Amino acid sequence: MTNTYGILAYPAGHSLSPVVFNAAFKEIGVDAQYGVFEIPENELSKFIVEARQEPIAGLSVSLPYKKEILRYIDVLDEDAKKIGAVNTVVNKGGFLYGYNTDFVGAVEALREVFSDLKNVNAVIFGAGGASRAVVYGILKNGGKVSCIVNRTKENAEKLAKEFSEMFGVEIVGLGTTDEKKSGNVFINTSSIWTLNKDIDFSEIGKYFSDEYLKNFECFMEIAYNPLITPLIKKAQELDKKYITGDKMFFCQAVKQFEILTDKKAPKDVMQKVLEQNLV
Ligand code: ATR
Repeated sequence: MTNTYGILAYPAGHSLSPVVFNAAFKEIGVDAQYGVFEIPENELSKFIVEARQEPIAGLSVSLPYKKEILRYIDVLDEDAKKIGAVNTVVNKGGFLYGYNTDFVGAVEALREVFSDLKNVNAVIFGAGGASRAVVYGILKNGGKVSCIVNRTKENAEKLAKEFSEMFGVEIVGLGTTDEKKSGNVFINTSSIWTLNKDIDFSEIGKYFSDEYLKNFECFMEIAYNPLITPLIKKAQELDKKYITGDKMFFCQAVKQFEILTDKKAPKDVMQKVLEQNLV
């Protein structure tokens, strides 16, 4: 029987998981297909009920469901539990097992510039499900998070408090980058570019000033479609180091493939297909 996998997100059109996973299945001869489940919020419960019964073997979970999916998970992996977000779901006989591979991807992506994570002192922009994994990955590997900045300040404060307590560190939650608190790497985890494709590079000043961004050595994005976001373009303009979103996506996808299929991921093929499809 053909196993069905897919991406659960809303919107889901930006995701390159379908092309990367389907190429990987073909490469290793697995009888499986990977589709798109673009499910609006009011249909999520119904979708999960059906997913448990239908032959859906596993899901990648993306925005905005990485936190919301928790209440449907029957068995939660230890890292995913601490992160408070799930991006990988395995269906075993109607029981849903939840994992998080984003934190692995974030750490591997940061290693492109920081061979030792202890040298990372990050400012995190965004306080959603992806942000949780990035913060956790850095702290778990001995790096520092000086602050979390988010449009809704309360969400930043809540996350900062939660992870400060978990790791015995001091992270500040802020509502704007105007409130100065710096580090050496600025990581955008928000869905700002993914949800607003029409934001022009010239508008980046509305979100982050040059004066603020100049404080950092390195910039990292977790969004990869498009690859060159306004933040990455700004990093190029300021002649700073940068890590594009494909790095985290690739590393989390490899780990996710192995959890979903229990097979070794064909990394070369996955990398090649990803590169061919990046815009
Ligand atoms: P994900 O799973 O990708 O993290 P999410 O949990 O929906 O998605 O979180 C999205 C994050 O992007 C949130 O931090 C959100 O800010 P709010 O907490 O204020 O909602 C942030 N975000 C989304 N659109 C944004 C925008 N236009 N400007 C700034 N932040 C934005």
